[in-house]
Amino acid sequence: MARHIHIAPDPVTLSSLAAEQIVTAAQTAIADHANFYIALAGGKTPQRLYEMLARPAFANRIDWRRTHVFFGDERCVPPDHDDSNYKLAAKTLLSRVPIPTGQIYRIKGELSDAHQAAREYAELLLERLPSTPLGVPVFDLILLGLGQDGHIASLFPGTPILQERAKFVAAVHEEKLNSWRISLTLPVIEAARHILMLVAGEAKADIVREVLYAPNSLARFPIRMIKPSAEIDWYIDAAAASKLGDFNEQQNLA
Ligand code: 6PG
Repeated sequence: MARHIHIAPDPVTLSSLAAEQIVTAAQTAIADHANFYIALAGGKTPQRLYEMLARPAFANRIDWRRTHVFFGDERCVPPDHDDSNYKLAAKTLLSRVPIPTGQIYRIKGELSDAHQAAREYAELLLERLPSTPLGVPVFDLILLGLGQDGHIASLFPGTPILQERAKFVAAVHEEKLNSWRISLTLPVIEAARHILMLVAGEAKADIVREVLYAPNSLARFPIRMIKPSAEIDWYIDAAAASKLGDFNEQQNLA
């Protein structure tokens, strides 16, 4: 597993470095197989990245006619709800770039049956994405955030969905949040050509250190459980990296 840790001095530099990485991934994918398949993250951290990607300096270097946007997870709310990951991405990025609306594939969080929404989304992935010889859908890039408890997408530590190897999308009721979520599962994240972890803020400093360096983190944290053949790039701002001390594989971009 190739893991690269990039530490940016501040959240603005962090977002522009991650945006640059996405532009490169898009250009590489389109040159290689004529299309770019990306899964966006939810939560708050990617907002600045999405706003930056929509600016001409980045947006003009992505061929949006050949870009297909999916989501790593969704909350079980309608697309116009403030908690909707789709709504965040639509407002800050997708409504500002020339991507055909037919190439934006949101998870139907509004469906009363979350399992049905998960099944439908899994079918869509199989229909629209290339797949591995074993039939696992392959994204060119999956953007992920990191929760303070170490969750990625809606894959929470210690939950049964982490054992899910047959389904590519699953619905999960997260007790702590007392709410349903729909999420890509580990096999799909594992099969991605590129994984971009985006983490910012001092509140994440403890979990970043634990996930990256705690001895038993392999068994506890979803991002450490995957056996990716792909690259993982961690983009972390200085505040979130403030407890990494002098672990030597970091690449300070100060
Ligand atoms: C979600 C996300 C989730 C998120 C982390 C970090 O739907 O909430 O997909 O995995 O990335 O919770 O969220 P913040 O960026 O808000 O800290």
